[in-house]
Amino acid sequence: MMRYSRIIGTGGYLPEKIVTNDDLSKTLDTSDEWIQTRTGIRQRHIAAPEQETSDLALIASQRALANAGLAASDIDLIVVATTTPDMVFPSTACILQDKLGIHNSGAAFDVQAVCSGFMFALATADRMVASGMAKNALVVGAETMTRILDWNDRGTCILFGDGAGALVLQASETPGILSTHLHSEGRQRHILNAPGQVRDGRIYGTPFIHMDGGAVFRFAVQVLAESTQEALAHNGLQPSDIDWLVPHQANARIMDATAKKLGVPPERVINTVAGQANTSAASIPLAMDHGVRHGCFKSGQLLALAAVGGGFAWGASLVRWG
Ligand code: ACO
Repeated sequence: MMRYSRIIGTGGYLPEKIVTNDDLSKTLDTSDEWIQTRTGIRQRHIAAPEQETSDLALIASQRALANAGLAASDIDLIVVATTTPDMVFPSTACILQDKLGIHNSGAAFDVQAVCSGFMFALATADRMVASGMAKNALVVGAETMTRILDWNDRGTCILFGDGAGALVLQASETPGILSTHLHSEGRQRHILNAPGQVRDGRIYGTPFIHMDGGAVFRFAVQVLAESTQEALAHNGLQPSDIDWLVPHQANARIMDATAKKLGVPPERVINTVAGQANTSAASIPLAMDHGVRHGCFKSGQLLALAAVGGGFAWGASLVRWG
């Protein structure tokens, strides 16, 4: 009986334009040295003006489908995690479904949990596949976060980049996804937000990212480690059982501190932040695709995925690879 889902393909896409820290320091009171020391970030990719979030998602999805050996018409569920949708509605997932040429075949919808969005999308798709609601799901994280940055705010604009990553999940008799554990704490919504709103055809408030960096740092490290521990305990496993930690790529210091708390050695942590910066909901599937393309993951290995983001919202998932 198909009681689980497993990952059968990954794909990623980063826009062609690269902006380095040195590029930023030409117009901003910052330096490559400051940014690298504090965050591990060297550069970020920026979507071209004509590229929508769904265009990034499309390329990542096509690559994931090719990697899985499936056609778009095999997909009967699309879940897109994004904070930067193409438009207010329809969902980016519906736009992606159309661009993939998939018609009359299952559900397509977005989930929004900012940088932890991919964990919420993965949990949703996993349970829908495991319960028989779908056979082959595309789970996508796609963002154009650089469009909601105040480029004069050096505390935030240095941190983010654009990109998309996608996983194909398939119904399976064996796991796959062992379990996912999600949490939210709305009381912390003020330490990281983009509080503008569209009303009566106008934007009210500021739609740019606002952040209390220190508070976010402390909260992120605590809950990334906690939720990973929760997932391990649920499955009767220990931190020493983790073969690969795939954390949300917020910044190198958050990932290092989380790995240290869990006792996972640095060489067992997928780290793509130097070349991509923080791509929000896209960062985990991009990191998974990086791991696959670099031959990191071996059959039977245990992967721990963990993410945290504005809301606050966070979660962790354990994956048995292969
Ligand atoms: N370049 C140069 N100087 C800067 C920059 C910059 N880009 N940004 C801030 N500074 C200055 C500050 O103004 C401050 O100057 P002051 O002492 O004269 O006031 C000084 O550097 C120190 O600032 P802090 O904010 O204390 O620096 P800190 O060491 O805390 O690092 C950082 C800031 C990197 C943002 C850190 O707090 C952090 O990593 N926070 C987590 C934020 C994060 O990753 N968010 C991602 C989104 S959330 C998520 O994905 C979970």
